[in-house]
Formats: sequence, C-alpha cells, structure tokens
Amino acid sequence: MIKDTLARNTNKSDITIRTAVPADGSGIAKVHAYTWWSSYQSFMPKEYLEDRIINIENATLKFTNCINTKHNCLVAEVGNEIVGILYFMPAKDPKYAKCGEIKGVYVLERFQRMGIGKRLFIAGIKALLEHRYKDMIINVVQANTKGKNFYLKLGGEVVGEFESTFGGVTLKQDVIYYKDIQALYEKLTAKK
Ligand SMILES: CC(C)(COP(=O)(O)OP(=O)(O)OC[C@H]1O[C@@H](n2cnc3c(N)ncnc32)[C@H](O)[C@@H]1OP(=O)(O)O)[C@@H](O)C(=O)NCCC(=O)NCCS
Repeated sequence: MIKDTLARNTNKSDITIRTAVPADGSGIAKVHAYTWWSSYQSFMPKEYLEDRIINIENATLKFTNCINTKHNCLVAEVGNEIVGILYFMPAKDPKYAKCGEIKGVYVLERFQRMGIGKRLFIAGIKALLEHRYKDMIINVVQANTKGKNFYLKLGGEVVGEFESTFGGVTLKQDVIYYKDIQALYEKLTAKK
C-alpha cells in the first residue's frame, strides 16, 4: 500500500498527470475500489464496497482491456504510485448524444484537496476537446455531496436526474452539464 509519508511529503510539482498505459491497470483498479470504499460508505452497502476490493483482479482486467481498446483513461502519479484516475467516453444517454462524458474522477483519500482532482478534470476536458466534443456531462450520485460540490465548483449545472442501483440500493443521480468546454478549459487554465 501507499505509505502515509508519501502523501504528507507530496508537493504539486511531484504530481504527474498522464494517459494510462496497460501496465497501470492494477493501480487504477486499486484507486477505484479504495476511493469508493473510503468515500461512499454513507450511502452504499458496505458489503458491495467490500466486494469491489475482493474482486480487484477482475477490475484490473477490465481496466487493462479498456486502456488497450479505448485509450480513455488518465492517471495522476506520485513517485511511481497511481493516486488518482479519470476516464472518459462518448455520453451513453441518447439525450446527450453529442456530448463527451467524464465517467468519474477518483483521488485516494490521503491525496484529496491537493489539486489533483482539478488537474485530472482539466486533462479530461482537454482529451474530450481532442475528440472534438463541445459539451460534456458527468453523472453523480446525489448523496455524494463531496463529489457533486466538486463538479459544480468546476462550472457544471444540474440538468436532469435518474436512478441507478448499487448493491441493491437505488440512488438518484444528477446529470451535470458543461456547455462550451473549450471556454471552460481556457478559464480553468488561465494564469491568475
Ligand atoms: C471529488 C474529488 C475527485 C476531488 O478531488 P480533489 O483532488 O480532492 O480536489 P481538488 O483538490 O483538485 O479541488 C479542486 C477544487 O475543488 C474544490 N473542492 C474539492 N473538493 C470539494 C468539496 N468536497 N466541496 C467543495 N469544493 C471542493 C477545491 O476547493 C478546489 O477549488 P479551488 O480550485 O478553488 O482551490 C475527490 O474528493 C474524490 O476522489 N472523492 C471521492 C470520489 C468521488 O466522489 N468522485 C466524484 C464522483 S465520480
């Protein structure tokens, strides 16, 4: 596991954001499972979150396959350890057919509030712009106030909601919409 001292001693300049390669599959699966575990216990069943950790090898295969075929994953790395991830794709909901979608931004708990999520988010927008998307959506569970506030702070607005089931529990999700991601990218990267 990643040592505590690594988080304590991390400076902004130590963090690299890059496109994932197949060898990152295991690190990505760990960040995914452990971030869900540390952040979602107040609204998802504990057993469901535990199962994600137990089944980490399957998740590793899934992510490795995804990286190989879709090239749609970005990672934040500190000292050869993956501490944050983001993946993106064309929006699944036909209502937002022309939009790109950021599927999730996940940063290990000890590395949160250090600017890593925002840097991944900006890199995700850049990747969607390279794929010629103009607008973007992100779905977030309403009960995930931390995640939702982060996405709203970065310029999105709630335009809809739907329900999904996680481990037998049905939760409402918000659709957060970002119009004109080129302008958003310029705003988020402008020197203050
Ligand atoms: C949400 C998450 C990705 C944020 O990542 P992070 O690295 O901690 O965020 P950053 O440090 O880059 O913060 C970026 C900006 O958002 C703000 N922010 C971060 N978390 C916030 C929160 N909980 N509420 C309000 N604002 C928040 C920061 O203040 C910062 O603002 P600034 O640019 O004006 O300084 C991280 O907390 C996480 O992984 N959470 C668990 C997984 C999750 O819920 N992901 C989102 C749903 S898929």
